[in-house]
Amino acid sequence: MNNPFRIGVLGSGKGSNFVAIADAVAAGKIPAQVAIVLSDVESAGILTHARERKIPAQFIPPGKFRTKLDEDAEREFVKQLQESKVDLIVLAGFMRVLKGDFLRAFEGRIVNVHPSLLPSFPGLEAWKQALDHGVKVTGCTVHFVDAGVDSGAIIGQQTVPVLDNDTAESLHARIHVAEHELYPQCVAAIARGEISVVGRRVIAKKS
Ligand code: GAR
Repeated sequence: MNNPFRIGVLGSGKGSNFVAIADAVAAGKIPAQVAIVLSDVESAGILTHARERKIPAQFIPPGKFRTKLDEDAEREFVKQLQESKVDLIVLAGFMRVLKGDFLRAFEGRIVNVHPSLLPSFPGLEAWKQALDHGVKVTGCTVHFVDAGVDSGAIIGQQTVPVLDNDTAESLHARIHVAEHELYPQCVAAIARGEISVVGRRVIAKKS
């Protein structure tokens, strides 16, 4: 691939969405290259999965805050992603809110997967929020990242039923399966240049 579309992935957890995307890249379903994987958690499974695939992977200490990166950490994340010349940043279970300087550095080029049908249940443990609320259908959402929490323009959504005997764990597991289908499809559409953003609406580009 000459000048492949370059993806940087950020995650804090086990990295199953990263694996789905890396597998889709390897299978030729996403015309791109995963250039770098970064994590704020030294023991995160996502780093192990990346290293197994010979993808550069790095832990960056997040600093003193619990829900965001401190200034030094933010600068280091931006530096690594810029040096890797990424075209798109894919958040795959990255559990910190990204702020001003990071967002400005990559405006319109950051996407996230969220485990609910946004705008319902933004924030933490969205599958548990859905279960507690008693909805019969939930799902997952892939969206662009803006300055709010899970509030950016929606790229794709997939529904998942809530079953009577669901626990938080069983529901999250079913949502994960949907995420693994939806996220690679959305990243592929972006890498192929197939979508455009009109206000809050993400629509197919007219050819
Ligand atoms: C996914 O379910 C993702 O939607 C969620 O974390 C999980 C990461 O799993 N993200 C958020 O809740 C972000 N607000 P993974 O590490 O196996 O990809």
